Amino acid sequence: MLDHLKANNRAWAERKVAADPGFFRRLEGQQAPEYLWIGCSDSRVPANEIVDLDPGELFVHRNVANLAPPQDANYLSVLQFAVDVLKVKHIMVVGHYGCGGVQAAVDGQRRGLVDHWLHPIREVYQAHRAELEAMPERPRFDRLCELNVIRQVRNVASDVFVQDAWARGQELAVHGWVYSIANGHVTDLNVTVSDPEAAAQLA
Ligand code: CO
Repeated sequence: MLDHLKANNRAWAERKVAADPGFFRRLEGQQAPEYLWIGCSDSRVPANEIVDLDPGELFVHRNVANLAPPQDANYLSVLQFAVDVLKVKHIMVVGHYGCGGVQAAVDGQRRGLVDHWLHPIREVYQAHRAELEAMPERPRFDRLCELNVIRQVRNVASDVFVQDAWARGQELAVHGWVYSIANGHVTDLNVTVSDPEAAAQLA
């Protein structure tokens, strides 16, 4: 079963060792990534590959539409471990244009549980309704993907784990990025927050 994937795995591990014989032995000891990536589950947005980082260099949390909901125990567990234990220096919330989750949030169709998961995106839409509805469909959808990222940056930056890290003088910045599946490029939305005052100002 799935023999092609197992064969891929062995070939990949061999390539890694051929390039760097100590690679896996070093990772066995510990992980010390400087970055937490909060991204979409979409198979076209592979976190490590996009920023060309090796295993051990990027702590990753992915879910549908890259949300950071302040009541989600999975996300909060990842965030706390990343901030308190790994002491990552950067958290990137990474959305992507053409996100099916963002589209599903506002297309009016009923899909079940995921409609509840995507509820925060409908709130973002409502909050920016005038701006969005003045735009043609495609740019409107792209803009909603960006606005969702900015909203999640605000969630992360206002979280008590992050606020407490800043209060004890820990170096930590929260960034908002959006990825283009069309050309592979990441765009920084320039909403980086690295202290509580900036977090309070992020709309
Ligand atoms: Co997506």
